[in-house]
Amino acid sequence: MAGDIPTFNPDDSHRYNRQLTELGQRVLEATDIVCLTGAGASAESGVPTFRDAQTGLWSQYDPEELASQAGFAANPGLVWQWYMMRLNMVEEADPNAGHIKLAMISTIPPQFTLITQNVDDLHERSGIHSVLHLHGNIARFRCNDCRAEYQLIMVDRSADEPPSCRVCGGPIRPDVVWFGEMLPREAITLAEQAIRRCDLLIVIGTSGIVYPAAMLPIEAKRAGAFVVDINPQYGPTAEDADMFIQGPSGSVLPDLVDVVHTMQE
Ligand code: OAD
Repeated sequence: MAGDIPTFNPDDSHRYNRQLTELGQRVLEATDIVCLTGAGASAESGVPTFRDAQTGLWSQYDPEELASQAGFAANPGLVWQWYMMRLNMVEEADPNAGHIKLAMISTIPPQFTLITQNVDDLHERSGIHSVLHLHGNIARFRCNDCRAEYQLIMVDRSADEPPSCRVCGGPIRPDVVWFGEMLPREAITLAEQAIRRCDLLIVIGTSGIVYPAAMLPIEAKRAGAFVVDINPQYGPTAEDADMFIQGPSGSVLPDLVDVVHTMQE
């Protein structure tokens, strides 16, 4: 209901500070923290989100054309070129303050698991080496037919058409999850295990409308975790969360780390 949706008021620093203090305490007390990130976590690095009406990746294209088996079959060259354009964008981007501070938070609890829907490597480049990529990795490749794996240096990224598999001749594609495809089994299994055992889940920068990732906060809450959503926009995840902190991750996470450091002094 619209009346229940909190509106952002930059002057409401009292509420914001109270939330950060509570979250800071929870971060220090938790034994097992899980963080789930979406495209919003990379937005301040200059990597567009998917659903922003003006700048989102899907705003100019039909997602089914670019991120589905049917789209790849119909126009493999378009799909290949689009992913190589995105790969260039990711390579030119640097981790933002949110990535860097999240890496600091990851060292605090005895157990920390990062689950991401992002296909970039900005979390890894900020220092979190073990990342569960639910939607794959844009810098890895595989044959669309026989699944033979290829590294970045083995493909011609400037080609107009996808390279051919050396094993079966099928088209090579980025190792990302497209609409209608299964998530990588190991990543989703480990993610669900982490979600069920964590005591604090921090969700950052996801619209919470793509399943099964969108189920993870609900599962965490059911299993007894405290769920926090950090996002400039109120959305489905915020609705179910125990705490919604409204703001960009590149500001909220540095503020959280400051609060935690003050508490540790
Ligand atoms: P979306 O584009 O759906 O949502 C991005 C979210 O980030 C929105 O809720 C924004 O409000 C929020 N956001 C924007 N800027 C932010 C910032 N600076 N800090 C924090 N949050 C910010 O992206 P995802 O939820 O990641 O899947 O989308 C999920 C999946 O849908 C993607 O992984 C992709 C797409 O289809 C596949 O490609 C399989």
